[in-house]
Amino acid sequence: MLLLSPIVLIWAAALLLAVFLIQRLRSPLSKIPGPAVSKYTSLVLKWKEIKALRTVYIHQLHQQYGPVVRIAPNEVSFTSWEALKEIYCSGGSGYDKTEFYDLFKIYGRRTMFTTLNKADHAKRKRILADRYANSNIMKSASVAGVQERSSKFVRRCVSSPGGVSDIFVNRLISHYAPTLHRLFSKVLYLFAKPRETPLADDYVLETSQLSGTAPFTLMSRFDEKTGDLDYIDKAAECLDHMAAGIDTTGDGLCFLMWELSQPRSLAFQRKLADELRANRETPFDRLPYLDAVVNEGLRCFPPIPMSLPRYVPQGGRSIDGFWLPEKTIVSCQAYSVHRLNSAIFPDGDRFNPDRWLEPQGDADRRRLQFAFSNGGRGCVGKHLALLEMKTLLRDVYSRYSTTPHESMREEAMAMSDQLISARPLGQTCLLRFHALEEDDNRDDEI
Ligand code: HEM
Repeated sequence: MLLLSPIVLIWAAALLLAVFLIQRLRSPLSKIPGPAVSKYTSLVLKWKEIKALRTVYIHQLHQQYGPVVRIAPNEVSFTSWEALKEIYCSGGSGYDKTEFYDLFKIYGRRTMFTTLNKADHAKRKRILADRYANSNIMKSASVAGVQERSSKFVRRCVSSPGGVSDIFVNRLISHYAPTLHRLFSKVLYLFAKPRETPLADDYVLETSQLSGTAPFTLMSRFDEKTGDLDYIDKAAECLDHMAAGIDTTGDGLCFLMWELSQPRSLAFQRKLADELRANRETPFDRLPYLDAVVNEGLRCFPPIPMSLPRYVPQGGRSIDGFWLPEKTIVSCQAYSVHRLNSAIFPDGDRFNPDRWLEPQGDADRRRLQFAFSNGGRGCVGKHLALLEMKTLLRDVYSRYSTTPHESMREEAMAMSDQLISARPLGQTCLLRFHALEEDDNRDDEI
């Protein structure tokens, strides 16, 4: 009975609290800069996650505390190239992923994206990587497929009443896979978490069992080299790539076209149109200003702006001058890497494609371009994404200029975190499309 007396309980609680505080204060992470609350609890970080504000919260902490910040008792965020290289590129594919990626398992299976350790990842990547090699993406069948859907997208935008189109809702999803779009649209606003798409799940499961797939596709690769994968593994992989490719490319283009449509960016839009109109026959990957615009879009509005969490390997590691024990969660987030390295990206909050054309510092800028991550676990779909983005921008800005619709408010385009990707808060982006004259004379530079 004595054990249950209030005095004993208070003493026991005080003792536990003291042990907890001493442990926290003696943690090897205690010297890392950051808010005091991060030493004791991850609740603030979790609250920001729930409010879709994690990326902005961590960004503000970096602005306040510098390139290394403790964001939770066992979690540290970095912004420097040295840290990025160590976490994502050391040993080829960097540190192992954390269980955060379990959230993205599909049909209960791990895909290339959700494998946690190097060995499992390398095994899966060996099967699939060649499908996304630039040489495969540039084959005429895939380029023609992208071109056809891009043309449809533009036709739909300009044929809508008054030339006003919602480029968020109309995103490429409906043009890359019209059937899927019908299925997706019913559940678009019900997503509890990304990639929870029951109708699409069934669709992919069914189609993954069909034969006669086109020779450049993932499924045809699976037909050649399946190893120990069954049809559910294959369907999971295909659905994952579909989800990984649709939202990212669509959201990136949406934010970029919104920015290009602003009065502050009209000079950039015009330069882009001038390049595109003067070089109609030039291949899309040999247009320097188009490349600069896409790079700047991905820098300012990375479709995956948030932390990509990894575990510090066995034995611990020193990163950016701080010793971190094994199993510490470490990460970089593209949003901060792109905006806070002012020696490489001066005036980092400002959208300015011209910075990518400056003769000095090109290699530094490109290695800090973290929109597709870096190292062996970086985006395997990068070449496809660039083909899609550049084709669409070329189709739009060689024939039209865009301006924001009067009803749009800047707040609607604020970044809203969706666990791994970000979309406009208002989930709408109304732009007006204006046809350009065939020989539009544009001396009135803004
Ligand atoms: C602008 C468009 C895109 C962006 C910004 C983007 C960004 C990224 C990023 C940052 C990662 C690493 C994620 C992490 O480590 O957690 C990634 C991985 C991946 N992406 Fe993309 N992505 C884009 C388009 C695509 C497309 C079009 C596809 C395929 C159709 C694709 C398929 C994948 C896959 C399969 C992975 C996992 C790679 C691995 O673990 O080896 N992505 N992407």
